[in-house]
Amino acid sequence: MGGSLLDMGALVVVEGLDGAGKRTLIETVLGQLRAHGRRVATLAFPRYGRSVHADLAAEALRGRHGDVAASVNAMALLFALDRAEARDELAKLLADNDIVLLDRYVASNAAYNAARTGQSADGEIASWVAELEFGRFELPVPDLQVLLDVPVELAAERARRRGELDSARALDAYERDEALQQRTAAVYRGLAESNWHGPWRVYGAHDDPASLTACLSEILAR
Ligand code: TMP
Ligand code: MG
Repeated sequence: MGGSLLDMGALVVVEGLDGAGKRTLIETVLGQLRAHGRRVATLAFPRYGRSVHADLAAEALRGRHGDVAASVNAMALLFALDRAEARDELAKLLADNDIVLLDRYVASNAAYNAARTGQSADGEIASWVAELEFGRFELPVPDLQVLLDVPVELAAERARRRGELDSARALDAYERDEALQQRTAAVYRGLAESNWHGPWRVYGAHDDPASLTACLSEILAR
């Protein structure tokens, strides 16, 4: 990319279930892009420890704050407000890098909350989330969303093991709910198939991270 003020990095999002392996994939791809001399940055949502909204959401999913967790819209608002607060930070990362890789973004809110209400990717909740976050909060629309689509049982097992090894990652209400994880996986596939707010790419458990790195390099070459 050249040096014009209009140049902005590409916004790439990795989405998937709890325990899908998003973080590992992101770390690998970041390393490969850096080895190719790319300026890359990463940011994970929710921004725990940095956003009061993110922390409230995590606490609610562990039984605090009364009936907040029972409300689909209240939970979605907390996660959305975390991102709204991060808008300047995100803009700066995009200005300073060739690629910004996000671990979860707006589609997480669409997938989990549509799944909670038994809706699909083209339902009311997903539209409401998009209007709120891309519309009202003016969050940037991703250049690419990557669905890390691993078998639900594999993701659940990984989340379980993580919770046993690290008490800070003890399972929350969503992670304990197998049926919710199943429905969330289905909504994610629907979002990917419909290219919900930008192009999607589905990435399987056995796909080589290098193929994703190559795909991102292609986006940068455009
Ligand atoms: P985490 O597992 O990535 O820490 O996120 C906590 C849970 O919240 C996870 O089950 C996914 C869900 N979630 C949403 O429902 N909406 C969002 O916008 C985000 C970022 C996460
Ligand atoms: Mg989780």
